[in-house]
Amino acid sequence: MSRDIALAKQEATRILDIVRRPADAITREERERITRDTAENFANHINKGFLQYRKSVTESGGFAVTEWVGSGSIMRDALDREYIDMLGGFGLYSHGMRHPRIVEAVKAQLDRSPQYSQEMLDPLRAQLAKVLAALTPGDIQYGFFANSGTEAIEGALKLAKFYTGKSGFVSMLKGFHGKTLGALSVMGKSVFREPLLPLLGGVQFAPFGDADAVERILASAQAVGAGIAAVIAEPIQGEAGAVVPPDDFWPRLREICTKYGVLLIADEVQTGFGRTGTVFGVDHWDVAPDIMCFGKALGGGVVPMSAFMSTPEIWKVMEPNPFMHTTTTGGNPLACASALAGIEVMLDEDLPGQAKAKGEYMLERLHDLQERYPGIFREIRGKGLLIGMDFLDGETGYKVAAGLFARNVLTAGTLTNSECIRIEPALNTPMELLDEVLNRLEDVLRHIRA
Ligand SMILES: Cc1ncc(COP(=O)(O)O)c(C=O)c1O
Repeated sequence: MSRDIALAKQEATRILDIVRRPADAITREERERITRDTAENFANHINKGFLQYRKSVTESGGFAVTEWVGSGSIMRDALDREYIDMLGGFGLYSHGMRHPRIVEAVKAQLDRSPQYSQEMLDPLRAQLAKVLAALTPGDIQYGFFANSGTEAIEGALKLAKFYTGKSGFVSMLKGFHGKTLGALSVMGKSVFREPLLPLLGGVQFAPFGDADAVERILASAQAVGAGIAAVIAEPIQGEAGAVVPPDDFWPRLREICTKYGVLLIADEVQTGFGRTGTVFGVDHWDVAPDIMCFGKALGGGVVPMSAFMSTPEIWKVMEPNPFMHTTTTGGNPLACASALAGIEVMLDEDLPGQAKAKGEYMLERLHDLQERYPGIFREIRGKGLLIGMDFLDGETGYKVAAGLFARNVLTAGTLTNSECIRIEPALNTPMELLDEVLNRLEDVLRHIRA
């Protein structure tokens, strides 16, 4: 596209004019135009590839489904069609969309100071670190804030190298930690890594849940003097499809890491803040990691926010030169207000307790459907409201995902990747809405069987 400054101004003003108007002052023609423009802009300026993968385009008939207003577990599109959100932004919307108390805190901070000066001390960041220190297990006390989960992982890897003076890592097959070069180095999936090799050297992978395999790697590394800085894992693998490890896995990881003098990093980006039925995933097994990474729901679903945190002993390497790891916008006052309100809501509404009870209910009802509709599911598993449904093949999975989408239920699952569909709704989703989703799912299964 050639340079056209007048067009840039005109297009910015056109959409802002709509954004600033109340919903009932936007005409049907304008809504249809937003829908058409969005698909066209994706094709011309974001990535054409996405359009083939999203059910919101491929399965929506005349108008691509273009998100417009979210509230709790309901998303309405630009044409005012209503969808029940069972995807929860892959763990972002644990509090639901636009939780009023989180929005209120963010608006109040917006009127005070949205970003920090970079020179004065900023109160909300310091207070949030204190709150998280009180919330986290073990001796975790210091934190660094960033904007994405991936950045939290990058920071954690740096801290582990910095503290131990070693450069190797042990990570898990099928593990997901983000897609920047450092995070990608510990990701356990070839599709995203292979075209970009070589990545960070000295990373070895073990099957998730196999503590003996981790120990074998650490023992061999010690025998040959290959320094391992840390073992990194998700408490429950999210992206891999809500894979819950055996109960002895995390306690044994803790034991093994201590034995070999290696740090233990828990990637709680997806499992943190109530998602699996406890505040943190590692709480299921009472394990205190050396470094914890947070993201997604930490920001309360309103402002992006992430963090890596560690103990005073480990953090001391960051003290002589606190500029060893910095960011201009990470932990900004808006994000901190959002996170603080998110934590307050999580505790007041007992989101972990809700996730546990609703997760158990969903798993029971889903297993019942699995039994009554044989030949569709391979396995249904999960903890709390992090649930994975494995299908016998991708084609069946896509039929279910597309069938749910046609019945106005949002889930993951694409044309090329539907063997496992995750159910990951807001933790405070009303029971009636969960029942409605289960009814619609049964309707889809009935159609597939027919
Ligand atoms: C466990 C885990 N770690 C890290 C990330 C990366 O977070 P982000 O997408 O916010 O960069 C994700 C994202 O799905 C994740 O699930």
